[in-house]
Amino acid sequence: MKVCIVGASGKLGQYMVQHALDRGYEVIGVCRERSVHKLERFQNRITVIPGATNDRRVIEKAVSGCDGVLTVLVPWGRQHYSTGTAQAVLDYAKPGARLVFSCGWHITLDGKDVYPPALKRDEKIARLLGRLTRMVDIDDQIEACRCIFASPTRWTVVRGSDLEEGESQGLPVWSRHVGDPLLASNLTRRSDFALFMVAALENDELIHEAPAIVGCQTPSALAHSTAKEQAQ
Ligand SMILES: NC(=O)c1ccc[n+]([C@@H]2O[C@H](COP(=O)([O-])OP(=O)(O)OC[C@H]3O[C@@H](n4cnc5c(N)ncnc54)[C@H](OP(=O)(O)O)[C@@H]3O)[C@@H](O)[C@H]2O)c1
Repeated sequence: MKVCIVGASGKLGQYMVQHALDRGYEVIGVCRERSVHKLERFQNRITVIPGATNDRRVIEKAVSGCDGVLTVLVPWGRQHYSTGTAQAVLDYAKPGARLVFSCGWHITLDGKDVYPPALKRDEKIARLLGRLTRMVDIDDQIEACRCIFASPTRWTVVRGSDLEEGESQGLPVWSRHVGDPLLASNLTRRSDFALFMVAALENDELIHEAPAIVGCQTPSALAHSTAKEQAQ
C-alpha cells in the first residue's frame, strides 16, 4: 500500500510514519520545508515532499497514486489552514483512496456528543485565545470536518482524547459519542493515536465514522471490557 502522511514531521505524524513503515507501506510525507530535518531518521525509507499542507499543488503531487492518506488536521493561524488542507486532500486523492483525518473530541459528526464541562470550557478558551493571538482557529478545524463529513470519499475522522507520551499500550478503543463511559478516562498515548490512524486505513468498518478514541489500558476502557465480559 502506498500512503501519504500530511503533517509527517509533527509528533503524531512521526509516529504514523513509523507505524506505516512497520507495516511495509510505501510512505510519502508532506511537511513544511523548515521541518524536513525532523524526518532525518527515516532518510532513504520515505519520500519527503516539502511544503505547506494547505498548498494545493503540494498535496496534488503528494497524494498522487496513494491508496491511503493520513492527515494531521491542525488549525494553525487564521488563514483557513485546516480547511485548505482537508479540501486539497479531498479534491486530489485518487477515487476510492482511504482518507483518515485527525482532530480532537470537540468535533462532532451528529451533534449527539455529551461533553464534560471542562472540555467545553477549554474549547471556549482556545477559541478566544486563538482570536486574540491569531495563532489558531478552532472554528476552521470544525469547518474542515464539516467538509469532510459532506464528502462522498471514503473518509474517517479520528477524534483524539487528551494525549500523553509513553510506550504503546495497544490499539485504542473507541465510541461514536463523547460522553460514553468507555471514554471517561480521556487519555491516549500519542503513539497509539497514530496506531489507530494507520490501522483505520485497512478497517472499512470505520468508513464514514468519527471514532472518539481512548487508551485501551485506561481505567474507563478496562472497566468497560470487564463489564462486557461479565455480561457474556
Ligand atoms: N492534546 C493534544 O495535543 C490533542 C488532543 C486531541 C487531539 N489532537 C489532535 O492531534 C493532532 C496533532 O496533535 P499533536 O499534539 O500530536 O501535534 P503534532 O503531531 O506535533 O502536530 C502539529 C502539526 O502542526 C504543524 N505545525 C506546527 N506549527 C505550525 C504552523 N505555524 N503552521 C503550520 N503548521 C504547523 C506541525 O508541523 P511542523 O513539524 O512543521 O512544525 C505538525 O505537522 C491534531 O489533529 C489535533 O487536533 C491533539
